[in-house]
Amino acid sequence: MSEKKESRDWYKEAVFYQIWVRSFCDGNGDGIGDLYGVYDKLEYVKSLGVDAIWFNPLYPSPNADYGYDISDYCDIHPDYGDLDQFKKVLNKAHELGMKVIMDLVINHTSDEHKWFKESRKGGDDNPYKDYYIWRDEPNNWDSFFEGKAWEFDSLRGQYYLHLFAKKQPDLNMDNPKVREEVKNILRFWLSMGVDGFREDVINFISKKEGLPNGIGFLPVIGSIHNFKDGPHIHEYLAEFRKVCDEYGAVQIGEGPMTTVNTALKYLSGDTKSMDMMFSFDHMTADCLFTEYLHRPFKLIRLKNALSKWQYKLAGKAWNSLYLENHDHPRIISRYGSEKYHRESGTALATAYMFLKGTPFIYQGQEIGMTNIKLSSIDQYVDVSSKNNYHKYHLKDSIEDRLHRIHVSSRDSARTPVQWDDSENAGFSRVKPWFFVNPNYKEINVKNQESDKESILNYYRECIRLRKNNPVLLYGKYKEYEHGNAFVYMYERRRGNISYFIICSFAPEKILFMLPKGFANHTAKIMLSNYPKKRVPGEIRILPEMGLKLSPYEALVIKMKRTK
Ligand code: GLC
Ligand code: CA
Repeated sequence: MSEKKESRDWYKEAVFYQIWVRSFCDGNGDGIGDLYGVYDKLEYVKSLGVDAIWFNPLYPSPNADYGYDISDYCDIHPDYGDLDQFKKVLNKAHELGMKVIMDLVINHTSDEHKWFKESRKGGDDNPYKDYYIWRDEPNNWDSFFEGKAWEFDSLRGQYYLHLFAKKQPDLNMDNPKVREEVKNILRFWLSMGVDGFREDVINFISKKEGLPNGIGFLPVIGSIHNFKDGPHIHEYLAEFRKVCDEYGAVQIGEGPMTTVNTALKYLSGDTKSMDMMFSFDHMTADCLFTEYLHRPFKLIRLKNALSKWQYKLAGKAWNSLYLENHDHPRIISRYGSEKYHRESGTALATAYMFLKGTPFIYQGQEIGMTNIKLSSIDQYVDVSSKNNYHKYHLKDSIEDRLHRIHVSSRDSARTPVQWDDSENAGFSRVKPWFFVNPNYKEINVKNQESDKESILNYYRECIRLRKNNPVLLYGKYKEYEHGNAFVYMYERRRGNISYFIICSFAPEKILFMLPKGFANHTAKIMLSNYPKKRVPGEIRILPEMGLKLSPYEALVIKMKRTK
């Protein structure tokens, strides 16, 4: 079996926790989450059983895109603390046995970065002249966040490219000086002791020569083939990989719209530059391309995507596993059920935590935070939500347009973490920078700490079960009953030991017929989200008549395989 050859890298056995600091915990009482709050909560993070933390951008930024518009790569945003405070967090995390990775955003900077300010001045002997992508005439590309991808700069008298917001000019990665800057940034953080990077839209950094027009009638996606997996991408990434290798740093690429086949080029063979990639296929089980284009959730789409990545990467590359991050609305509100909050939250955890790969848990996911529904678009702060609202479906009613924002906004992932039921959800002593979800009185960390069956404690169980378990870490993946519209069932097998993961996505009781050959076998219950009904540790004989599954019931069973 190819699995045996797999190298045992630390990140493969790790579980990551993602912190979007602005909404995590306010330590100094100004309503904004910060590194003082993080410092105080590191024991909590550790108590989940996680091994590493990924910080979203902590750098100085005017926050046009909440940190993804960086104005200084080698400092900490004053809202969050300073470099000394960051070092304290880093050291404490290390002492607790957790690694720390930073967000590396090098496709673009802020327009307030010194490089851009200098570049705007033009002039032949200006060293920053070609740091960005300037043209006399724009092409027809759209940006992801704000209309056309080109903005005219009156100082320079030229247009600059911005694939995202106007305040996020794209760097010119073809300029060797820019790549040297990137390497300096890597060295700066790695020599401080940081353990690696999550690399933002990394598959967009090399643009096709001459910047040809895209397919005009397709908004946004019509030009992607001109910058996704561009002509020099693997050369540039090899340069960065070399620096990271000097420090043994892990690299995780964010790959919007990446396919399995292109991902394999980043993850394996001569062009390997990443240890893992964040793919998006499984995030469109209730939408088309982007959450804004909502459609009803279909389990079959989720299974298709997850299985595709599991099968195609098997033995060749390592998967990253996630259901939430700062760019997506909350998963219970999407793929689960707010009515069956605990049940669906734990079922979703079961469904993805035992896939082959490294699980990532986003802050608040471990207590099942849900989407916020604000009453007016003016209350939202995310640049892409605002743009979608003001640009598309203008003929629809206000209610319908707002509904689209409720189901799609990234702001739902960015409400303050709900620590307890006190004012401001225990996030801050003062009014927080952004709205707290009104359900914080019921959904909060404190409540769930004391409830053995809570989502929070279930995540801890999942992590414990996975840890040091060779079958769940390295075992082979196989899906069963693919056509079943309500149940996701898969096996992780190593030698003659198998774990079966069975998750119902039905909001009612259903009878699930086990695949042929399972009846009358003995199986040990390893995990269950209805622990009174199926007691972990018990050995059961699998019934011939099928399993009666309760709403969103999930279980993990262990079996000896004879063939
Ligand atoms: C990535 C980030 C997202 C950001 C975008 C532009 O997708 O995760 O938050 O808005 O890149 O940097
Ligand atoms: Ca603060």
